[in-house]
Amino acid sequence: MPLTLQAPLDMHLHLRDGDMLNNIAQHSAKTFPGAIVMPNLVPPLSSKAEVIAYKSRIIEAMGQEQFTPYMTLFFKPSYDRAFLESIQDEVTAIKLYPAGITTNSEGGVSGFDIEELRPALEAMSDLEIPLCVHGETNGFVMDREAEFASIYESLASAFPKLTIIMEHITTESSVALLDMFPNLYATITVHHLLITLDDVAGGMLQPHLFCKPIAKRPQDRDALLCVALSAHPKVMFGSDSAPHPREAKEACGCAAGVFTAPIALQLLAEIFDTHGASHANLQAFVSGNAQKIYSIDVPQKKILL
Ligand code: DOR
Ligand code: ZN
Repeated sequence: MPLTLQAPLDMHLHLRDGDMLNNIAQHSAKTFPGAIVMPNLVPPLSSKAEVIAYKSRIIEAMGQEQFTPYMTLFFKPSYDRAFLESIQDEVTAIKLYPAGITTNSEGGVSGFDIEELRPALEAMSDLEIPLCVHGETNGFVMDREAEFASIYESLASAFPKLTIIMEHITTESSVALLDMFPNLYATITVHHLLITLDDVAGGMLQPHLFCKPIAKRPQDRDALLCVALSAHPKVMFGSDSAPHPREAKEACGCAAGVFTAPIALQLLAEIFDTHGASHANLQAFVSGNAQKIYSIDVPQKKILL
């Protein structure tokens, strides 16, 4: 059955750079006329000039496809108010990575000392720049996200006016946080709505399903499905589509990332259909909620599936 969606958005996307960018960019643009683009390049995006130059490389890679890249900057505690003011018009959000937690995150935050983070986060709060967070500790792999909950709680309480996006949540306990703090929001990927750890490592190891955070238990997937299918107003779709060269995935020491861009919207539509969720909820999950959370104007484009 044909299905029309108004301006679907991917609120967490890795477009990479160079040949990889040129190879994959249009897969996203075919179904998503806009996306939040992650800054974990080598080196990570941390200056206005780098953001502007990367944005123009993205637009060039999109060719004739209509696509709005919503740019992000790689968070550093050293950012001061003057710098953040100067970059405000170029970025939609700033992404915080714990140091070394995932691909190209070595320059991220260590220790999570609220007082060390305060000047940058207070300035972001005043300037209404949302903070996107990769919420994992370096503890036991299945517990990393749950262990990060106390850091989310500290950040949400210390900066109550700062919009904080818990990126790619994978656990029942992260879902529970959404209703506890008014300024916490979340993105959810399509793969975490579909798979559990069993699909990754329960049989033959599936490197193309290996990502961070790793897929969790069935009850975690069910909690994610519950808020996505009901279009909970604080959740939005973010694919975390993260391509790597084949030799980096099919390797001893497989890179983390699931590349879903060419099929993400189609999979989502199928999931909503299978579970009998409404078209209105799918529309809210893939666009409406994000527009409200981020206060962004979106490209006027309809996608027919
Ligand atoms: O699996 C992942 N891949 N998780 C991330 O957080 C980063 C991403 C990447 O950039 O490859
Ligand atoms: Zn990501």
